[in-house]
Amino acid sequence: MDPHPPVARFAVVQRTNGGRVHRSLKTQGWLASRIETVTVEPDHVGFPLTEAAEEERLEAVLGVPTRLLVQEAMHRDPVDPHARLQNAVSAWLSEHGMEAEGLLEHLPKKWERLGDLVLLPAGATSTPAWLGVRRHPDVQALWMAMASSLQATSLGIQNPIANDTYRSSQVEMLLGTPSVCFLDHGITYAFDASKVMFSSGNVTERRRIGGLDMTGETVIDAYAGVGYYTLPMLVHGNARHVHACEINPASITGLRTAAKLNGVEQRLTVHEGDNAETLQALKGVADRCHLGLLPSSEPVWAACLAALKPTGGVLHVHMNVEEEHLEAWKNGTVERFQHLAEIQGRRAVVTVDHLEKVKWFAPRVRHVVLDVRVQPVP
Ligand SMILES: C[S@@+](CC[C@H](N)C(=O)[O-])C[C@H]1O[C@@H](n2cnc3c(N)ncnc32)[C@H](O)[C@@H]1O
Repeated sequence: MDPHPPVARFAVVQRTNGGRVHRSLKTQGWLASRIETVTVEPDHVGFPLTEAAEEERLEAVLGVPTRLLVQEAMHRDPVDPHARLQNAVSAWLSEHGMEAEGLLEHLPKKWERLGDLVLLPAGATSTPAWLGVRRHPDVQALWMAMASSLQATSLGIQNPIANDTYRSSQVEMLLGTPSVCFLDHGITYAFDASKVMFSSGNVTERRRIGGLDMTGETVIDAYAGVGYYTLPMLVHGNARHVHACEINPASITGLRTAAKLNGVEQRLTVHEGDNAETLQALKGVADRCHLGLLPSSEPVWAACLAALKPTGGVLHVHMNVEEEHLEAWKNGTVERFQHLAEIQGRRAVVTVDHLEKVKWFAPRVRHVVLDVRVQPVP
């Protein structure tokens, strides 16, 4: 079915009967909601009809004098972005004399938006029918229509995050630029989405961490990335200073750009390179340390504990943990930090402030953050 037929049939009734007729047409499934209603004469209105509407039964169903009109249809842009995406693809297919079968049903219902860039999920365009479309010489026009239907200017495919040290993004660009700059909860982020990942899914955790009052605190972000936590801690948490450790040059570029855009660059020191080395220079300086690496940040537990001031502080420990082992992991982590404190000659009491369940990472595996408090023995 053509989603944009050039003409449509309208049921023309007196405007005073409009409300009633609108309701009856809707109930009957005869109202074409994506076509604009027309004013016929000042006191008459024409309601667009679906293909199901039976002309000979119109008047009987509506119960008021009705006349039929066939004229040019003005199409409404659907509010639902998935419907807009479908319309854009159908229009391109019919313009190029191609069948919609095997294509429209694979269009995604969810995607990630990073400013003007929309990333479609991997697999969205990898079926055999889609691979044929992707080889079409005019495929750029399709990407443009799809991007514009989603109110974006760039389009890409989000392949799974690489399992490398950088946790690199594996975005495949279809249209436009991977350089993004966008506002999220009052913070501007800026980076190259084809080089670095951005976990939009961790939004609740970013807000929780940003919501903690860090006034006067020196904080270490051991895996800073483009500033997912560094920036909320500076902008919303009001940290006095953040030491951001990061190994990926592309993330560092993004972090520095965003720090300037948010006006917090004076309160940020970036430590470039492997945190196994950079954390050595940060012994005893921090009130708080953020350990945001999955599946585990364990390699830096000892260095981050050593980075806390002699007066102690808080560690935010990210980890992927199987649901049934959560309690055991929590207790084991406290014991481990207590043991590390003894090894480091720190007379401390280690306790748990909070266990945050961020999201499901895989079936039965949760991404959690344990807030561990380290206090000197009185
Ligand atoms: C998963 S990303 C950060 C994600 C962010 N914490 C979040 O949850 O959205 C982890 C970051 O740590 C960096 N990284 C990994 N190993 C590192 C290391 N040994 N030293 C410094 N940075 C490292 C990666 O380059 C990446 O930018």
